[in-house]
Amino acid sequence: MKNEITNNQKRIFSGIQPTGNLHLGNYLGAIKNWVNLQRDIPSIFSIVDLHAITVPQDPMKLRDSIHEVTAAIIASGVDVKKSILFNQSSVKEHTELAWIFNCVCRIGWLNRMTQFKEKAGKNREKATVGLYSYPVLMAADILLYKATHVPVGEDQKQHIELARDIASAFNSMFTKENEEDFFSLPEPQILGTATRVMSLRDGTKKMSKSDASDASRINLTDTKEQISNKIKKAKTDPNPLPETMDELKSRPEALNLLNIYAALSSQTISITLEQFSGKGFSHFKPLLIELAVETLSPISSEMRVLLKDTKEIDKILKIGEEKAKNIAEPVLKKVKNLVGFIN
Ligand code: TYM
Repeated sequence: MKNEITNNQKRIFSGIQPTGNLHLGNYLGAIKNWVNLQRDIPSIFSIVDLHAITVPQDPMKLRDSIHEVTAAIIASGVDVKKSILFNQSSVKEHTELAWIFNCVCRIGWLNRMTQFKEKAGKNREKATVGLYSYPVLMAADILLYKATHVPVGEDQKQHIELARDIASAFNSMFTKENEEDFFSLPEPQILGTATRVMSLRDGTKKMSKSDASDASRINLTDTKEQISNKIKKAKTDPNPLPETMDELKSRPEALNLLNIYAALSSQTISITLEQFSGKGFSHFKPLLIELAVETLSPISSEMRVLLKDTKEIDKILKIGEEKAKNIAEPVLKKVKNLVGFIN
């Protein structure tokens, strides 16, 4: 039985790339919110391997990363009985819808995407077409399930705005007169205090999988000792923690560490600031280490257990694939029909 869905059903979609180690930014900016949101809203989460190959990948490492990222998502608390978890390339409808959206999206819209500019850098002529049109595939990921809410970190906001533009353009090009718009417009869900976790070495740079320095990020697989050493060595400034948010804003490293503390303890930044104002980093850092270890150690040990049985991970992904296809197939069929294909 295929699941026909209507536009007024709430549905979450989000994805994460299987490239290298997942880090604290991925956890606090995305996965922690997925875990909370899945309780109340039907949710679909994807390991987006098609996105990963927009930059060169070693095939063996890619396969390992798919398993590792799946394990990290489950170990963090995504409930695979309740939510759908699947590998993007196993549902071919993503690429098919992306092609149709390539014929809806305008080049001018893609030219505004800041992440492409950052990732391609000066070497733009050598970047792949996939890297350039990646936000179109992301729009297809979301709209293929008619998702209404998309929990992500701050860096993905512009891509979700593009997905809204594509949905609107598709609606005006293809929705029949007197019929309800085919796609509703997805809302970004940028939640918590750590929507943009910064590098531990430089509070003005985003924490990222691709940073050459491993000391810049806390990986979900780091040991207690690694977490502790990285936080001990994290860049700070010589002053005690301030009293007001205004003062904190001009101190990027202090702001970042306090935001991380606030997000890990699920409290607001102002309460966190109140708790630590006037205290030095020598007082604050050990408490941050304790909290980070307390949160991340159970995740990394559960990941290690799950990774001992990759066949079981494949089974979980297969179940997710079937459930995802049940939703995706009828949506794509209707899209093809609206576009004028015979199917
Ligand atoms: P990706 O794999 O780069 O990151 C996965 C999620 O982690 C968030 N994130 C961060 N949040 C806070 N601070 C950071 N330093 C940080 N770094 C990463 C990202 O915002 C993201 O939520 N294009 C997406 C994957 C994707 C997707 C989708 C997301 C593909 N299709 C559809 C939502 C819906 C990406 O590359 O995320």
